[in-house]
Amino acid sequence: MMKTQVLYKSRTGNTEKLAKAIFEAVPGKSKDIQSLDERKDYKMGDVYFIGFWTDRGTASTDILDCLGSLQGKKIALFGTCGMGGSPEYYKRIEENVRVFIEDDNQYLGAYFCQGKMPMAVREKYTAMRTQKNARQIDAMIQNFDRALLHPDAKDLEGARAFVTEIYETLEKDGGREL
Ligand SMILES: Cc1cc2nc3c(=O)[nH]c(=O)nc-3n(C[C@H](O)[C@H](O)[C@H](O)COP(=O)(O)O)c2cc1C
Repeated sequence: MMKTQVLYKSRTGNTEKLAKAIFEAVPGKSKDIQSLDERKDYKMGDVYFIGFWTDRGTASTDILDCLGSLQGKKIALFGTCGMGGSPEYYKRIEENVRVFIEDDNQYLGAYFCQGKMPMAVREKYTAMRTQKNARQIDAMIQNFDRALLHPDAKDLEGARAFVTEIYETLEKDGGREL
């Protein structure tokens, strides 16, 4: 029987919401969810969903270390980031983090959505705004305000669909194992 381990890091709760939706959608009872801070013995799983908040275009070091330590596992990534509506940007984060996964693992894909940022970020934007950069800063403020609504119900639904699709594929690949 395959065991699924959901591991995540979340500073302000966005990624935790996604982690919980992902955990719910994992079929069967052989599953576990842990914040990486609490978890030391996380090598027991067969399938891993590793979640992170985006920190300067990548994941924090402890997430990257955790990823780099896994061998012979099936690994999916998920994450939240302040920047919304850009599949290209999500792809870039995915690639930045994916390189830490060793080749003897099976990579299952990634799911990203936007996540709200602290109000101090908006205040910083406002303070930075000049006549010269107004257009750019206004776009950043607009993105900030849109982010306040995320992760929303649709993001969580997307996360659950991502999980369902992965298990459908795994079942097709080697159903007896499940
Ligand atoms: C130090 C720091 C760096 C960040 N860097 C990025 C970034 O490079 N790109 C981005 O889109 N969001 C960035 N964010 C925004 C967070 O990734 C985003 O708000 C995320 O949803 C927070 O998740 P959490 O609630 O699980 O902590 C950054 C936030 C912080 C605090």
